[in-house]
Amino acid sequence: MIVLGLESSCDETGVALYDTERGLIAQQLHSQIDLHAAYGGVVPELASRDHVRRMPALIRQTVAEAGVPMSAIDAVAYTAGPGLAGALLIAAGTGQALAAALGIPALPIHHLEGHLLSPLLADEPPSFPFVALLVSGGHTQLMRVDGVGRYALLGESVDDAAGEAFDKTAKLMGLDYPGGPVLARLADQGTAGRVKLPRPMLHSGDLNFSFSGLKTAVMTQLRNGSHAPADMAAEFQAAVVDVLVAKSLAALKQTGLSRLVVAGGVGANQSLRERLNEAVTRRRQRVYYPEPALCTDNGAMIAFAGALRLAEGQRGSETHVVSVRPRW
Ligand code: KG4
Ligand code: ZN
Repeated sequence: MIVLGLESSCDETGVALYDTERGLIAQQLHSQIDLHAAYGGVVPELASRDHVRRMPALIRQTVAEAGVPMSAIDAVAYTAGPGLAGALLIAAGTGQALAAALGIPALPIHHLEGHLLSPLLADEPPSFPFVALLVSGGHTQLMRVDGVGRYALLGESVDDAAGEAFDKTAKLMGLDYPGGPVLARLADQGTAGRVKLPRPMLHSGDLNFSFSGLKTAVMTQLRNGSHAPADMAAEFQAAVVDVLVAKSLAALKQTGLSRLVVAGGVGANQSLRERLNEAVTRRRQRVYYPEPALCTDNGAMIAFAGALRLAEGQRGSETHVVSVRPRW
């Protein structure tokens, strides 16, 4: 079975073909970073317009790369939420239209489920059950995952997501857009501990997070002190990583599971990976990541989630109504 995956929830247009026999057979990705850079953040209207412009060509390129005719596609999976409403509508509209034209099912996929299952695309995938740490620009969650569609929320951020905190702090520090990766690179040149920042909710006794206070703490330090930007970045990254690592270990302990899966854009952070690798190895547990290219938004994870959903018996709607769920 071949599934076409479409992603347009934010500032990435992603298209991919997943073959249940051969794996990922083709994928194309267009990033809108340059388009939004001048504004210091994603401009929703510009994002939607660019998705409309790019999506048809990306689909043609993906199908050509795979060397299969359109008629070989068995189903379409598209991100239906959460995300920017106008942006989501592009993958949803395109997906439903293609499905109607080809007479195949179209499956709405939850964007976070795409991230969550993407480590299963790796060469050595984890088996169920596992704990998942989902760290993206919009969400920070710890979940217990028992199988496809069998997710239990263990804890989440009560305010900003980890990626959002990286982005907002980078902006405060006057760093280039997109802030998260730029701040992380600067952190590698500094020393944590020279500036002191809090570790929010480290000892809260639950698996929830809070990151908005960190950004405020950075703002106060910037006003009052004269710290090297690299040291500030290093301390900020260390504060976020300390909390993410401690709560992930606590989630493993609480559930009694030994496998941790990390997904979402912040999962690309090197310091987080090093600290997690070290901590779980010491405990004879294991941590799994998606390939670096699949950490941030892409069509491959949506095609893959669609294939797994179909294998579980989910059927797409026959009516091809185009609807999205921005706050899903
Ligand atoms: O999963 P993703 O691509 O999009 C969402 O679904 O939100 O995640 C994007 C987020 C952004 O906030 C970005 O700053 C953050 O991931 N990010 C990073 C790194 N690379 C991306 N944060 C910290 N360190 C990185 N290396
Ligand atoms: Zn995402």
